[in-house]
Amino acid sequence: MDIEKIISEMTVEEKASLCSGESYWFTQSIDRFGIRALMFSDGPNGLRKQDLSQSEFFNKSIVSVCYPTGSCVAASFDRNLIKMMGKAMGSHAYDEGISLLLAPAMNIKRTPICGRNFEYYSEDSFLTGELAAAFVDGVQSQGVGACPKHFVANNQEFRRQTYNAQIDERTLREVYLAPFETVVKKSSPQAIMTSYNRVNSFYCSENKKILNDITRGEWGFEGLFISDWGGTNDRPAGLLAGLDIEMPSSNGVNDKRIVEAYNNGIISDEALNATVRRVLNFIEKSDNDLGEESLWTFERQHDLAVEISSKSSVLLKNDNDVLPLNSKQKVLFIGEYALNPRIQGGGSAFVNSYKITNALESSKKYNDVYYAKAYLSEEDFSPELLDEALDLASICDVSVVFIGLSENCESEGYDRQNISLPDCQNDLIYQVAEASKKTVVVLHNGSPVEMPWLDEVDSVLEVYLGGQGVGEATADILFGRINPSGKLAETFPKRLEDNPTQLFFSNSGDNVEYREGIFVGYKYYDKKHMDVLFPFGHGLSYTEFEYSNLKIEHSDKGRFKVKVSVDIENIGKMDGEEIVQLYVSAFNSDVVRPVKELKGFEKVFLFQGQKKKVEFVLGKRAFSYYDEFKNDFYLEGGKYKIIVAKSSADVALGDVLFIKGEEKIKKYSVDTTFAEIQKDENAKEIFAPFIEASKHTILNSDISEERKNAITEDMLVSMIGDMPLRGIFSFTDTGLDYDDLFELIDKANNESNKWLY
Ligand code: BGC
Repeated sequence: MDIEKIISEMTVEEKASLCSGESYWFTQSIDRFGIRALMFSDGPNGLRKQDLSQSEFFNKSIVSVCYPTGSCVAASFDRNLIKMMGKAMGSHAYDEGISLLLAPAMNIKRTPICGRNFEYYSEDSFLTGELAAAFVDGVQSQGVGACPKHFVANNQEFRRQTYNAQIDERTLREVYLAPFETVVKKSSPQAIMTSYNRVNSFYCSENKKILNDITRGEWGFEGLFISDWGGTNDRPAGLLAGLDIEMPSSNGVNDKRIVEAYNNGIISDEALNATVRRVLNFIEKSDNDLGEESLWTFERQHDLAVEISSKSSVLLKNDNDVLPLNSKQKVLFIGEYALNPRIQGGGSAFVNSYKITNALESSKKYNDVYYAKAYLSEEDFSPELLDEALDLASICDVSVVFIGLSENCESEGYDRQNISLPDCQNDLIYQVAEASKKTVVVLHNGSPVEMPWLDEVDSVLEVYLGGQGVGEATADILFGRINPSGKLAETFPKRLEDNPTQLFFSNSGDNVEYREGIFVGYKYYDKKHMDVLFPFGHGLSYTEFEYSNLKIEHSDKGRFKVKVSVDIENIGKMDGEEIVQLYVSAFNSDVVRPVKELKGFEKVFLFQGQKKKVEFVLGKRAFSYYDEFKNDFYLEGGKYKIIVAKSSADVALGDVLFIKGEEKIKKYSVDTTFAEIQKDENAKEIFAPFIEASKHTILNSDISEERKNAITEDMLVSMIGDMPLRGIFSFTDTGLDYDDLFELIDKANNESNKWLY
């Protein structure tokens, strides 16, 4: 395609038409230039290609494999596995003629009640970015574009099309933009979907700072920005801000507005052509991209869905090694989900599953399990069914209760009101636990729930919304063929009210203030020393791992790099996989920082008795915070602790290192404090005489000896340290005036090479 020639021959109307969809799933075609319509399709947990034999709008999609949803796969902490899932979905999409898969969904879980949390990966931006990049790599290796969404700060469903996320710059950069930055830099997605909401007053689809300045300008994004479906406001402003395609079609309404804006000189040739060029480049790439050859079948993809589910389920509790079960025990399964598991959430991610396996059938190869339906909702309640379940429970060795959130609790379009399970399910667990010798709970839910009955049961297995293979995976884990290896990618708080956003979560109005700032998820609970139900990164195994020999290498010379290695040994009684987590903790920072932040993770498989070295390489960014004065990430010098941990609350090893840091550019002013000046080797001498003079004044003032003696050197230092430089006039007659002070400050600025902005 000769793109420049086409652009030069196109009318303004044709150009404007390319800036929106032709219909619900297709881009605009223009026959006279041979420009074909490309098809887009949803796909966070399976291909949801609309069945074109039906109407295009909200109808049944074609049959496809339903993979575990985002919160589940994230618990695998497994880049390779997620890449395989992306590859599998990409190859199916490719064969179906799809050019862009609308995935991954990668918003940060700011609150546990966001209705779409089941689609999203994590509360942690590092983990989210790494996993999303792996998924994008997988999809794009198959000749299909990936489209991470929803960009950005789409962290609730309530008023999702209009709310205004008010976020300070540091939080925006460190928490909400960071995962998208990783994806752009690591895996160059072909497109990014803008979200419905506003960020700091501007709709994301017309937020020039975020689209053009940061994503394209700073990160080098070369792909397309497409809107979420119906997520545009002022279309010409969107085009100028960097939005390329509005989806779906606006039936010509917005195309006309673009033409008008062009005719009025608001949109320049250059801006319109740049957009059209990006759209045409995308179409050309899609025409030429052949991807890798892949011989996928539904059955093979089903097996992958089972594998992902089994590597993502999280063993939350396992007292006295009640799990795994064995073939000799009398085992009872209770609950509808043992037969008909909940496998996915509602809304645009909903997949028409190829097949669904259940735990009861899948367990037959291990044990002749008994079954009682009992009840899951008030509507099903029948005293006979409950009695039958409890009678069986009393004669079996172990009861396994399958419970979870019902389908109407978790969906696109609305948030949850609380994090409780239905009362009747909590009651059922209490009653089964009372009647049984041992009780295991299997949870099907897309986001955290409270567990008031936790002390009454022996084991809890979180299988999340585990996709169509969840039944097989659950049976394999329960009976020990698979050793569970998932760890939570989100905190399970004790109560919803413990989450900091609850203070500001408004049920009315569009203004949503992100006042908790950078303290999202474990970063908040850590800082508050708050007890949680299960911490971020928690997950048990049937075996045990020992950590030793932590080594940290860092030199000031050459390229910045910190190498960390640690030995992990499987000292338990089964082969298994361990997720090793690396956190960085800053000592004595100049700004408020989290107690620790995840900056590395690796999943390793170890045979029983095997030991392996796990290595991490950390760059500058792992130690930096976003400095609003510098308008960039800043590598602060000082002491840091490297923590290697089994979970955010279970530290295995740690050691301290010193980082030299970058020079800081900051101009001294009359508001600079004496303490700040004193940290500056080059400038501190200039003000030293005034500090001494102030000390002298305080110590020689007309107060009793007793009070003078009570003033320690530390007290003096902090009293004077917090005083601004203009304070030199207040307590001592230095004979100076403001001109003299400005001269001294200029001198300090000239001589300083530390504080330089
Ligand atoms: C959702 C997107 C989805 C799109 C197309 C929107 O409602 O927010 O995630 O990709 O619909 O189905």
